[in-house]
Amino acid sequence: MSKRDFVIQPTAPVEQRVDALESVLKEKGANAAEALDELQHLAQEQWIPQNGARVVARAWVDPAFRKRLLENGRAAVAELGLSMPKHHRHLVVLENAPKVQNVICCTQCSCTAFTLIGLPPDWYKDFEYRSRVVRESRTVLKELGLELPADVEVRVWDTTADTRYMVLPERPAHTAGWSEEKLAAIVTRDALIGVARL
Ligand SMILES: [Fe+2]
Repeated sequence: MSKRDFVIQPTAPVEQRVDALESVLKEKGANAAEALDELQHLAQEQWIPQNGARVVARAWVDPAFRKRLLENGRAAVAELGLSMPKHHRHLVVLENAPKVQNVICCTQCSCTAFTLIGLPPDWYKDFEYRSRVVRESRTVLKELGLELPADVEVRVWDTTADTRYMVLPERPAHTAGWSEEKLAAIVTRDALIGVARL
């Protein structure tokens, strides 16, 4: 391999590249604008944290489901009619405990189990969060409003393209006897990411 292989070629401005992509898609019979609209619709209407909240509520009331969820997340959420893209090959559900707080991030970019948690919030995509949550997780959590006692262990999980995570928060003590629907309503996106407790 010679040094020449590493020469970076100048690239066209982004608008020009988008135009080029769009015309290629059109040539192939795909309408990029339509496809984008469809994607946006899916994202706003169907990929919402209420999906993850339903999963959590079911796990709280049904110990057998909880066990299946922890063993094979993808298969368990499918029982509730929830799907994940093919390339999200594994869903690992991380169980919080009184002395354990799980937190997810994507140090590379902004991957999440978005069909369950919803599209990632801006701060999740921010370089600041992605780099600091690994090194100084306790401080970052505090900045995000979650102050944990010193004896709570913080476990940070870095998402990859094919392994997605979801936090299973603890069920608050005051919710004894609540219906599954009422339970699901208190589960937030931030709790599914692990930057909040319920
Ligand atoms: Fe990513």
